[in-house]
Amino acid sequence: MRNCRCSPAEASGITKEPWHTQPHPQPATLVTIDEAPFVGETPIEAINSWLTPNSLYYARNHYDVPSVDISKWELIVDGIVENIGEFTYSDIVEMPSKTIPVTMECAGNNRTDLYPPVSGNKFQGGAVSTAIWSGVPLNLILKTLGIGRNVKEIIFEGLDSGIPDGHKKESPYGRSLPIEIGMHTDTILAYEMNGESLPVDHGYPLRLVVPGWYGMASVKWLKRISLVDYKYEGFFQKDRYIIEQEDSKPLPLTLMKIKSLFSKPRHGEFCKYGENKIAGLAWSGTGKVERVEISDDFGKTWSVAQLSDLSHEYTWQQWTFEWEATQKGHNTLMVRASDDKGNTQPLDNIWNRLGYAVNGVQRVCVNIE
Ligand code: MTE
Repeated sequence: MRNCRCSPAEASGITKEPWHTQPHPQPATLVTIDEAPFVGETPIEAINSWLTPNSLYYARNHYDVPSVDISKWELIVDGIVENIGEFTYSDIVEMPSKTIPVTMECAGNNRTDLYPPVSGNKFQGGAVSTAIWSGVPLNLILKTLGIGRNVKEIIFEGLDSGIPDGHKKESPYGRSLPIEIGMHTDTILAYEMNGESLPVDHGYPLRLVVPGWYGMASVKWLKRISLVDYKYEGFFQKDRYIIEQEDSKPLPLTLMKIKSLFSKPRHGEFCKYGENKIAGLAWSGTGKVERVEISDDFGKTWSVAQLSDLSHEYTWQQWTFEWEATQKGHNTLMVRASDDKGNTQPLDNIWNRLGYAVNGVQRVCVNIE
């Protein structure tokens, strides 16, 4: 367990924005999923606010967290560029910056909901968080250096390295993005999280943030960015973060699938006979959340929940619903979200061997007194 220091998210002028007035969850600690390297999820009872304080933001580390001497650290940008770039930390923070709130979910979130069980970190639903990130748009750096011809992908390499499962050779955590995603104006190299310098667990001194994508794309502790004209096939690109298929090639994970959860009530809670205010969050990397629906009859009928006005292109949205409990004893509630691109959560989870992109409709069982 780790101690909490709630982060105020007050710097960088972000206090003026409406999202700052959102209540923070009560102090708590991350739930440890793995000790070394550290993997922790946000406690389920703390997933009730729009903004996640840094100390409660889930952490997913594949290797030991690297320690960085900032006076020696530099970011190299090479490959098919007209000029190779070498940037110190102060070079980066002096560049024009951008601040964006982003909801990030680990692709393995809710893996424990799959049956039969799969191997991998036992995330129970807390590997999703929202922070306000500040940093330099990557396209600004790339345009300054000059992008060469025929660039297909951008490879991002972290300072952390180790020996991946089933391999003999040490390799760093590396991922690639198609050039058009890297050049998107909202793909940033972040050095601030909720107005604080990037915490060590979250990638200090510099990390990539790819809004809308599952978390694996947002490479932490950046050391090198390379522009290439081929398909990158590192372990975390080719062997992990894929959905295997029986008759065809594996599908790489990219945008977060539409998903929703209950913050209130939680599983096993007592509710009143009559009116109950229930609430939760919904998000999608593939579009804007358009509709959240609740069912108390195992999906026979659905009623539309109210979406909060506080919304941003890349964040989850809070929802509320006045639920009239008419039956004493056990009741099952279900929540289902849809986005404006026509994506709706499936009723049941779609099993896959590596346990990724679990987004089936969430059910909570409550007791009516
Ligand atoms: N970057 C590096 N260098 N090493 C890592 O282990 N984990 C990835 C991504 N970036 C990882 C990384 C995964 S799987 C996720 S879900 C996110 O970081 C988690 O970011 P967080 O730990 O800040 O929540």
